[in-house]
Amino acid sequence: MSATSFPEGFVWGVSTSAFQIEGGTSAGGRGPSIWDVFSADRAEACDHYHRYPEDVRLMKDLGMAAYRFSVSWARVFPDGSGKANPAGLDFYDRLLDEVLGAGITPYATLYHWDLPQALEDAGGWPSRDTARHFADYAAAVGERLGDRVGTWFTLNEPWVSAFLGYGSGIHAPGRKSAADAFTAAHHLMLAHGLAAQALGDAKVGIVLNISPVMTPGQVADPSRPLSEEDADAVARIDALANRQFLDPMLRGAYPADLLPVIERAAGLDHIHDGDLDVIARPIDLLGVNYYTPLVVQAQPSEPADPAFPGSEGVLFCTVPTAVTAMGWPIVPGCLSRVLQHLATEYPGTDLMVTENGADFVDVVTGDGIHDVERISFIEEHLRALRSAIEAGVPVRGYFVWTLLDNLEWADGYRRKFGLVHVDFATQRRRLKDSALWYRDVVRRNGLTDTRPKRPTLETVAARARVSRATVSRVVNGEASVSSEVRATVLRAVEELGYVPNAAARSLVTRRTNAVALVVSVPRQGGEALTAAVVQYVTSLLEGAGKQITLMLADTAESRRRVVQHVEAHLCDGVVLLPPDRADTLAERLSRTGVPVVLLGKQAIASLVPYVDVDNAGGAAAATEHLIGRGRRRIGMICGPMDLVAVQDRLAGHRAALRRAGRQPLLALADLTRPSGAAAMRQLLGDEPALDAVFAATDQLAIGALQAAGECGRRVPEDLAVVGFDDIDAASATTPALTTVRVPVADQALALARLLLSRLEGRHTTPVVLPTRLVIRDST
Ligand code: FCB
Repeated sequence: MSATSFPEGFVWGVSTSAFQIEGGTSAGGRGPSIWDVFSADRAEACDHYHRYPEDVRLMKDLGMAAYRFSVSWARVFPDGSGKANPAGLDFYDRLLDEVLGAGITPYATLYHWDLPQALEDAGGWPSRDTARHFADYAAAVGERLGDRVGTWFTLNEPWVSAFLGYGSGIHAPGRKSAADAFTAAHHLMLAHGLAAQALGDAKVGIVLNISPVMTPGQVADPSRPLSEEDADAVARIDALANRQFLDPMLRGAYPADLLPVIERAAGLDHIHDGDLDVIARPIDLLGVNYYTPLVVQAQPSEPADPAFPGSEGVLFCTVPTAVTAMGWPIVPGCLSRVLQHLATEYPGTDLMVTENGADFVDVVTGDGIHDVERISFIEEHLRALRSAIEAGVPVRGYFVWTLLDNLEWADGYRRKFGLVHVDFATQRRRLKDSALWYRDVVRRNGLTDTRPKRPTLETVAARARVSRATVSRVVNGEASVSSEVRATVLRAVEELGYVPNAAARSLVTRRTNAVALVVSVPRQGGEALTAAVVQYVTSLLEGAGKQITLMLADTAESRRRVVQHVEAHLCDGVVLLPPDRADTLAERLSRTGVPVVLLGKQAIASLVPYVDVDNAGGAAAATEHLIGRGRRRIGMICGPMDLVAVQDRLAGHRAALRRAGRQPLLALADLTRPSGAAAMRQLLGDEPALDAVFAATDQLAIGALQAAGECGRRVPEDLAVVGFDDIDAASATTPALTTVRVPVADQALALARLLLSRLEGRHTTPVVLPTRLVIRDST
């Protein structure tokens, strides 16, 4: 194995799943699955049910050695159980013949999340019977197709089925119960074991989404030591996401630290004697799906995330690395870490990367889809994978997720994970550059020694024996070139794999690929938000392949320059922040026709789409919390009233008081701590019976805490104080401040997404993100 090649016989392939590509939802007597019922999008998907010969041919042309697909349970058993539907099995029969005829080895997954709706109606995965029906289904499929399927995967990512389907409810069937989620998880594993038995001597594996769990600091430095609290947070999430499945299947027991969590939420009655023996039946292969790590840290006031029941006190963090269009941080090194960890902790099991890939915003140009981000994503992950192999980890293969742009579950059709672009209006398939690049990886069984030097305009000109100007004209789709010359140039472009650079591409797409990030120096207290948003938005947009031009807009002169820049169309879009200046820059920019998005609602009603947090809702929740704690006389410290956020917080506070039949009592301040202290003293002077204060920002609340102490009031005994924003200092005061948390990273993510949708020409509306009350000792 040279420095970049892979072991002989290494299996290269692509993965898909039935519901995401097949369509034909009632063809051949197929019954409905939970996803047909749950999905907001029509489920024709890629119409693969009818177009599978074309799709198999595509794989053949790309030189794929292996194809991992899933069988739709509801096609084989329209009612989930009972009598098998021969027409459903016939489809997979035809598909397998086609796949084998193309010289491709099939890997079949029996369950990729699409439970027959009839079984959900009978109780779904929380019901033990579902596991038995699954075994019958496995037996029927094994009997009919087992002569041609070399390797079976029983389940795909049971964590997702159980905890997103029955815990958080963001996936089908959309139920929200921690007890059901844990019971479902157990029955899924039981189903796996029973199906493995039913498949007899066949080679059997399972596919898990193993997510490396770490703190933000460990993303860059894995060996970084952790505080006891952070270590506990990491261990808890690792138990829920990974060990919950790995340990029963590979060690025959639930992790000791997880059992009490399960017992608290669901009891243990659903775990019967003998279940673990079935579940721990030896497997031949462990499939690992890896996309991104889980990044967490201890945060005492944090409520449990419903997808991770038992995760109280754990904060799920965003990390400021490049991200995919899904917002998933790109951390290739974690793939190698996870594989090495599995080999050490669960030795003796062959591994296979059964899914890895990325959603990026693809631009279809006249000369192809130059998805360089996807190529570098896969390439970096393959380098990481190779280093694990070199360290002795038995990884037998790698499957890209996925062959075709498809129906990405609850996210619908807007996610683009495919190596092949699908136009859903016409079902036309078009190879992206990543498909051709991956074809070459497979062909040479590895990467190239040096990272590919991109061919330039010059190389193409030399190969085609024409001038650079001619190449440029052809690439840019100008008509003034003879068809003969055009053909020669296009052949050279194809042979060399030439990707026009951004400048050349811009001439095709009339795009600059640049985004202006326009910032003015924030007012006091806004620095942290601005800094974080700049950092995240930059990383997110760069992750989506955009170049960022940072511009300041503090003076009339600099604002004029920004307007000129945008009027000259030197950028495709503008992100404008922060929100606290009531000027007309946003309006002026949006008149240029270039898409603009804004952080924060504007003072003057405007059509420019913005991202904001629910200031009124947060203030109402804070006020209701005080009322709920029995506080009788509640004052509010307001910041400067020209800030829209302060106006909204005041409105929310007033509304909550009104609902409770209480009178408001206000004191005005600016944004500083001393002004918060002064306002506190004023309130205490005006109203001796005052027993609670809601401050419009944490800085004001901190000033209020100080003043209360100086005036001899004990917090919270005599006086409760609530702030807003949850800045770092809020948890460090004595007593620690109850406050309203605004999601900083999510605002950035939403801004970047909003801009990307606008760049795609979609109509967009403002995004208002929920806030969350964080209860600490000051109330
Ligand atoms: C995995 C799923 C797959 C697809 C990718 C993006 O978790 O197995 O179907 O949704 O994520």
